[in-house]
Amino acid sequence: MLSKGPSKELSGGLIDLADVRGRLPGRHIDWFGSVNSTMTIAAQLARDGCPGGTIVGAEGQLAGVGRHGHVWHSEVGAGLYMSIVLRLPPHPATPARGMPVAMLALGLAVQEAIGEIAKLAPDLRWPNDVLLNGKKCAGILAQIEGDAIIAGIGINVKQSIFPAAISDLATSLRIEGAPHVRREDLLIAVVEAVDRCCRILTERGPHAIREMFTRSSTYTCGRRVRVEQKDRVIEGVTCGLDESGFLIVREDNGKETTILAGGVRPA
Ligand code: BTN
Repeated sequence: MLSKGPSKELSGGLIDLADVRGRLPGRHIDWFGSVNSTMTIAAQLARDGCPGGTIVGAEGQLAGVGRHGHVWHSEVGAGLYMSIVLRLPPHPATPARGMPVAMLALGLAVQEAIGEIAKLAPDLRWPNDVLLNGKKCAGILAQIEGDAIIAGIGINVKQSIFPAAISDLATSLRIEGAPHVRREDLLIAVVEAVDRCCRILTERGPHAIREMFTRSSTYTCGRRVRVEQKDRVIEGVTCGLDESGFLIVREDNGKETTILAGGVRPA
């Protein structure tokens, strides 16, 4: 399979693509050396009608996109930077505002894959920051493209240092005690876990994902947090997820607010 796009596929590049393709037979995988963002390429493929499950990955990104307009630091060869095109049949119980549950499912998948391959036990911070020792080792974003969801997954694997601006917030599997993770193994585990969690979402429905997330995240209930909204900062204690998978925070005056977006941080 030849890669299309801004940069040529590395031949015998840092990731062993032959290994990955051999273990994911039939899967469309485009892997690049350096791109601006795998999200843009995956979105174009989705518009062109690529099959669900298509993977776009890169060794490094020049303009990796994070949530809330942040840049995702994408050091060449140090992380796993990939976008997966998901075409999910809707479950009858999927709420109209269904995206948050898909976000939760992706977080669960990455948490599970890191646990399996790195033997570490990350926490999840709503909606899907993956944390080790309170710092982010992986981030996920999801973007709608027609009838597809583009799942963007970034995992810090081999970094030993981060730029000063994010060094208090970011960590890697290596820093947290798993220096020998093979990115190929992690990639396979992530893809398989994403498939599994998406199957749970589409077959058992959103409530199954909400329950799993509630069990797997110390942030969902009883956690004092601050949430920056456009117009104000909400501070209070988390008290579960609503039907759609949005986080509910009870402020000190007893008022419950549903968090639709915004960075959740420990208070
Ligand atoms: C976050 O801010 O937590 C989400 C980060 C998502 C980063 C990944 S890396 C692969 C994909 N391509 C991008 O440009 N962003 C996502």
